[in-house]
Amino acid sequence: MTKKLFCGEINKKFLNQEIILYGWIQNYRNLGKLIFINLKDREGIIQAVFKPKYQVAYNIANTLRNNFCVKIKGKIVKRTKKNKNVKLLTGEIEIVVFDIFILNKSESLPIDINIHNTEEIRLKYRYLDLRQFKMIKNLKLRSNIMHYIRNFLEKNKFLNIETPILTNSTLEGSRDYLVPSRITKHHFYALPQSPQIFKQLLMISGLDRYYQIAKCFRDEDLRSDRQPEFTQIDIEMSFIKSDIFRLFIEKIIFYIWKKIKNISLNKFKILTFKESMKIFGTDKPDLRNKLKLVDLSDFFIKTNKKRIVSINIKKKYLSKIKLKDLNKYISFINKYGTNDLNIFKVYKNKLINLFNKKSTYLINLNQNKIQDIIIKNNSYDNDIIFIGTEYLYDNISSMGYLRKKLGNDLNLINNKKYYPLWIINYPLFKKDKLGNLVSMNHPFTSPKNYSIDNLYDLLEKNPQQIISDSYDLVINGYEIGSGSMRINNHKIQKKIFNILQISKINQQKNFGFFLEALKFGTPPHIGIALGLDRLVMLLANTNNIRDVIAFPKTTSANCLLTNAPNKIDTHLLKDYGLSYTF
Ligand code: AMO
Repeated sequence: MTKKLFCGEINKKFLNQEIILYGWIQNYRNLGKLIFINLKDREGIIQAVFKPKYQVAYNIANTLRNNFCVKIKGKIVKRTKKNKNVKLLTGEIEIVVFDIFILNKSESLPIDINIHNTEEIRLKYRYLDLRQFKMIKNLKLRSNIMHYIRNFLEKNKFLNIETPILTNSTLEGSRDYLVPSRITKHHFYALPQSPQIFKQLLMISGLDRYYQIAKCFRDEDLRSDRQPEFTQIDIEMSFIKSDIFRLFIEKIIFYIWKKIKNISLNKFKILTFKESMKIFGTDKPDLRNKLKLVDLSDFFIKTNKKRIVSINIKKKYLSKIKLKDLNKYISFINKYGTNDLNIFKVYKNKLINLFNKKSTYLINLNQNKIQDIIIKNNSYDNDIIFIGTEYLYDNISSMGYLRKKLGNDLNLINNKKYYPLWIINYPLFKKDKLGNLVSMNHPFTSPKNYSIDNLYDLLEKNPQQIISDSYDLVINGYEIGSGSMRINNHKIQKKIFNILQISKINQQKNFGFFLEALKFGTPPHIGIALGLDRLVMLLANTNNIRDVIAFPKTTSANCLLTNAPNKIDTHLLKDYGLSYTF
């Protein structure tokens, strides 16, 4: 195979060389004596010139239209001074074409990729949308990131091992995608929410260092950083403690940022789950946002157990907003349950309530206490203090939402900076809406620093107090990865299943094989999964996950290109022993 040359790669080094290029016609100009076209491929654009002296090529050039796919053969020459195009990387040269072959004509495209299109139309014609350089750039970035990660892990003796896609439920906490079995009627496979159980089994097999760039499937509510089908860089290893393991993962992230962005990241901060919730009202804090929550609960007589917290905004950050417009935050945070948000201006040791003039909010506070609030918030004259009750939702609070919104609205976030941190010491369990205990992480997560006997007792008596040996990697407010030390004791694993109210029958049916495997010399083992899509989002500076996936799904989990999911013909359904009942 001859060496592939791309249009966008041709530069002055190729002067006077005869080369062959393939690409698509971007635009053409017929100046009578000369015909110019721009030829485009994934790497860029080059100008091609047709001259009457190469008669056959010149005649064909007369018939060209946009988006025709062609092969050209010609010689690279310097452009005349007035012909140079500084906008093109190949702007100093052009190719004089001797031969052209139309490989395929094109109808006019249903979308113009040079203008702003709705996402709906972009996804319907995704293969054309991907002709945009910005989309090609993201896919190249994704390919590079995967390459560097593979390199790094393989240098460190990790084996790339694939695990099944047609499998059983993996208990990651979301709903499964199910696939009916034709051969075993009325039985279903579940697509893996992650390779969690298999990677643990590989440790029991003694494979020690495993990785996989793994497709995972979760039927959950979608958001701008979630897809039903996404990719994890899944890692598991044996014989290593969590602090050392975290340092190893830091090195991977460090290496990617250096290679892709030429940025040397600082050492990762470590916060406990409790600290993070206390200071930022979330376990995914964006540390570029310097705003903090200050706990004022002690100042107020409370009727419930919730915290009362404040956020102080420095005067200098308020230049872009009129004070009277701050009241929009009252209705914003109302949606999250805080219906007592008060906004004060700090002035001469007083707190002036901006919107709620008759508020009795501070009524029980004497001047000393007000002064203390001002000091605790490190506030100065003309700063603004937001004070409200904090309501907690799945690892983010109402005041955490407010901090995030204020950070964005007041432009407190430097888009060029990256602040990675670890959140550690999550509780092992949390309560779901019905008051039942569920795993905070997943049921295979090991408790932290307990002797087995002690632990068994605690699990019996006070499971909610137990801290797990788990960690999340957060960068700029995104959960990039999550992992933990695993339970390698058969009895403890069983106990956890019991606490999660998985019946003995279901334990046996769904996890009997795993519980049994744990009996055969299971090594201490640990792992993590990094969300590849989110990593690429960060490095591509986009906050839409669909920008970094070639063929993504909509927020209602549809593929607008192929129309999946689709109805199945009734007779096909019969093969699976299924039928429509509606
Ligand atoms: P977890 O469920 O936290 O852990 O997932 C790991 C990482 O995968 C990414 N992620 C997603 N990305 C896009 N769309 C989604 N729907 C989605 N869901 C998760 C996130 C997340 O941090 N088995 C464990 C890992 C382990 O313990 O080793 C697991 O899957 O970046």
